[in-house]
This record gives sequence, C-alpha cells and structure tokens, in this order.
Amino acid sequence: MRINSPKLNIMYKACMKASKSLIRDFGEIENLQVSSKGPGDFVSSADKRTEKIIIDELLKAYPDYGVLSEETGKINEKNENNRWIVDPIDGTSNFLNGIPQFAISIGYEEDKEIKTGIIYDPIKNELFFAETGSGAFLNNSRIRVSKKKNLKQSLIGTGGPKSNSKLKDEIYLEFLKVSKSIDIPLRKFGSASLDLASVACGRFDGFWQRELSYWDIAAGIILVKEAGGFTDFLDNDVNETKKRNLVASNSLIHKELLDLIKKKNIEKN
Ligand code: IPD
Ligand code: CA
Ligand code: CA
Repeated sequence: MRINSPKLNIMYKACMKASKSLIRDFGEIENLQVSSKGPGDFVSSADKRTEKIIIDELLKAYPDYGVLSEETGKINEKNENNRWIVDPIDGTSNFLNGIPQFAISIGYEEDKEIKTGIIYDPIKNELFFAETGSGAFLNNSRIRVSKKKNLKQSLIGTGGPKSNSKLKDEIYLEFLKVSKSIDIPLRKFGSASLDLASVACGRFDGFWQRELSYWDIAAGIILVKEAGGFTDFLDNDVNETKKRNLVASNSLIHKELLDLIKKKNIEKN
C-alpha cells in the first residue's frame, strides 16, 4: 500500500480498525433479517460503534482537530482549519438489507478545503485513497477517470431522493431528463461515496445527486479530482452541511452533463 503521509496513515489505521467490527456486524445481518425484530436497531448501533472507533483513533493522533460526523455531529467545533469528515457506514440501507455495497468514508479538510480522502469497501476489500497533489489510488494501483467523450454513451450513476425530500418531483424529472439523453440506463447503487470512487476509477463516467450530506462526499471529491475528474456543486450550496447538490465526472463529459442537469425543461423526443 503506497500510504506514506502521516494523515493518510492515521486515516487508514482508523478505517481498518473500524472495518473489523463492521464486517462482524454485517455477518449478523442475515440472521437478523429473518428474525421478527429485524435488523433496524442493530444497524443503528453498528453505525455508532463504527463511528466511535474511527473518531477515537483520529483524535488519539490529533486531539485538537475538529470532527464533523454523521452520528456524533461536531467535536472541537472551534478548530475550523483542521477537520475530519466522517461517515461510518455510507450505504446504510444496503447494509441493513444484507447488500454488500457500503463503505467507510473519511475526509480531511484543511482551511476549508478537502486535502485527503479515504473510502473503504470492507466487503470487496477495496481501499480508495487520495491526497492533494499525489494522485488517487485503489489498493496498490494508481487510478484515473474514464476517457469517455460523449454523454450519450456514458455510464452515469445517481441517487435519492430522500424520503423526506421536498424536491421529489423535480428530482424524478431530472432522472427522466438524463435517462432520455443516455443509452445505458442510469445506475443507483445506494452509496454516494462508492459512486464517487467509481467515477475516480473509471467504472462510472459521471455521477450527480441532489441533497447529499458533506460526509457522503468529502472523501470522494478529492478522489475524483486527484484521478483527473471534475466536481461541481449545483446552485450556491457550498456551505451547506446537508443538501449539497453534486456533479462529478471524468471531465470530458462534464459540461454536457452539467448543462443538461441545469436545463429546466424536459424536451419531448
Ligand atoms: C446515503 C447514501 C446514498 C445516498 C443518500 C445518503 P447513508 O448515505 O450515500 O447513496 O443516496 O442520500 O444519505 O445514509 O447510507 O450514510
Ligand atoms: Ca452517507
Ligand atoms: Ca451513514
């Protein structure tokens, strides 16, 4: 593993330690699914357990760094210059249903900019990581975005809308609009961090989704950038923790995808 920066090293350790307990918990899901109680409560405690392991490891190394995490919220709030952004299980519904498509996602932000990211899929044992200026990697190999040049032939991922979204109709119309412009049907795999990792390693040519939370995408953003892709926020939502609308792509189809999503009306064809 080409991890030679102190930050990445700490993130890697935290990730590996947490993933051991996460894999054990995932093994329990199958039994719980057929029990009358179901896996709901168990999953929410697995989420908290995983997050605690990660945060404890990160803060052991850098006690005064800030943390923004999905379950705990903010720690050391005053430190806005050095911050960990943590999602302990990204893809909870998949996890809950015994579907092996979820990840641990940890981003490191310095002076409000994501510098380092790690996304670990513990079931496939795929570790994606990137650091500003050092490229993006999957396990031992350098990864790069795809070379697809036109949107029509691209494989595009998306997600949502959330059950409580006020924009459901608009989001469904957007799916329709993009679907009509591409040959291969849209993919919705249910883990935004892994969707971004897929853009970074060229499995997806592009991805967009509305109303994401910062912890879903922090690590993925640096991964896509370091793999040679582009990321953009739609609208002026850069400072929102939740409800961030993100477009990510291999760069070559970026303008076409962005213009299409921004276009208001669905053309009849
Ligand atoms: C969710 C996943 C999913 C996305 C949702 C997120 P969670 O995160 O990233 O792909 O569509 O918007 O909330 O809840 O599983 O951590
Ligand atoms: Ca998430
Ligand atoms: Ca989560």
